[in-house]
Amino acid sequence: MDNFNSIFNLAKVEHQKGNFLEAKRLYIQLLEFDSSNSDINHLLGVIYSQLKDKQNAYLYFKKAIKINPHNPDFYTNMAKILLSDDKTKQAIELLSDAVKNNPKIADTYLNLANIFKMNNNYPKAIENYKKAIEIKPDFIDAYNNLGICYTEHFYNIEAHDAFKKVLELNPNYPNIDTIYSFLKERLLAEQKVISSSKNFNIFSRFEYKFDNDELINDHLTLLKKCLTDTLNVDEESIEFEHVNEGIKTLLYSKTMIGIKRLNNLHYCIVETIKNNIDGDLVETGVWRGGATILMRAILKAYNIKDKLVWVADSFEGLPQPNPNLYPADKNLNFNDPNFINVSIEEVKSNFRKYGLLDDQVKFLKGWFKDTLPDAQIEKISVLRLDGDMYESTMDAMKYLYPKLSIGGYVIVDDWGALPMCKQAIIDYRNKYNIKESIYIIDSTGIYWKKEKDI
Ligand SMILES: C[S@@+](CC[C@H](N)C(=O)[O-])C[C@H]1O[C@@H](n2cnc3c(N)ncnc32)[C@H](O)[C@@H]1O
Repeated sequence: MDNFNSIFNLAKVEHQKGNFLEAKRLYIQLLEFDSSNSDINHLLGVIYSQLKDKQNAYLYFKKAIKINPHNPDFYTNMAKILLSDDKTKQAIELLSDAVKNNPKIADTYLNLANIFKMNNNYPKAIENYKKAIEIKPDFIDAYNNLGICYTEHFYNIEAHDAFKKVLELNPNYPNIDTIYSFLKERLLAEQKVISSSKNFNIFSRFEYKFDNDELINDHLTLLKKCLTDTLNVDEESIEFEHVNEGIKTLLYSKTMIGIKRLNNLHYCIVETIKNNIDGDLVETGVWRGGATILMRAILKAYNIKDKLVWVADSFEGLPQPNPNLYPADKNLNFNDPNFINVSIEEVKSNFRKYGLLDDQVKFLKGWFKDTLPDAQIEKISVLRLDGDMYESTMDAMKYLYPKLSIGGYVIVDDWGALPMCKQAIIDYRNKYNIKESIYIIDSTGIYWKKEKDI
């Protein structure tokens, strides 16, 4: 044993001095005494990785973990090797095992979160930074990286809180001043939009009151239930609450926007009809077409013949994000992007099912950047934006907001759900000094009434 310890000490000294070959020889000698010593297997892995022999490094780290799955350093060092070979997926799997086997080690969550962050998977990174902080409430690196993820993801208030914590823990933390003032500017821009909007109040939820014509109201209520596939859902039930804000089960529904936002659309259209506001109805981003079907149904119910419904979509889903032009879109991370692809034939067939496909419905097929600039739309009375992304929201605002009549409405579906969409609206409103009051519809939708031209 004494002999073992003295060789071990000698090996560590050589290792520290950078005499890797000699240290390696001594570690191998030690394994002859005790091949199941996890520390020595691990140290040998470290030596091999320092000698750039990744294959052997990997082998010894793996052995060390097998012998002792409860030392987080073993995983961390092996993950480094995997990452240096671009094996991100395996590194994530490895560190996921590490957190399973060592659920109380904050550093392991941090390391796992860092990999997600490196790969722009901010939601997963945030989840793991939060776990690290739960275990170690003064974990400054975790707060800092959490702040960066929130900033990247445009969750500005959350980012502000995370960096504030970093400042509290260490006012001299590297770069904290720069990032904090950058974030403050962004928050001020957001604040400018919100405070200039007299009625922006999260408690002022949208209450709808349509028309005195009960028959029309009953007809449209029934239609909304059909479009959301909720005819058989009890209005008192939890499921209805879900549907109210946005559909959770989307098998047969023709829209994902939920009853509250359909009510808001209904309200805006009826208001513009009652007030003789000139212009067509437009939705940019229609998915299965449900909201535009409601638009056409309302025109029909009120016998309006001089307004068109414009149905604008690629009919093949979202465009590839263009982070060079629109950095906010680089974090777009949908679980199943194909789910959003709905063909023009399917949308037309949905209109047909409701008996509403006619000359008053116009389709604009293609990317907004290509179709909207030259679209034959003269004036708009209700503009509904539902394109999810910064680019899609900005393009719709850029090409269509100038055509919105005074007294008309713009509705933004994704303000609360997708920070990149909110950012586009903030940027556009600030650029053109738009001050009209913003009203909140539900957990995500907002709208305002245009009061002056830009
Ligand atoms: C969330 S869905 C719209 C939901 C729909 N309003 C409803 O009632 O269920 C987003 C839609 O926007 C479309 N889209 C997003 N960005 C686009 C772009 N730049 N050009 C064309 N279509 C786009 C997608 O194809 C998709 O159909």
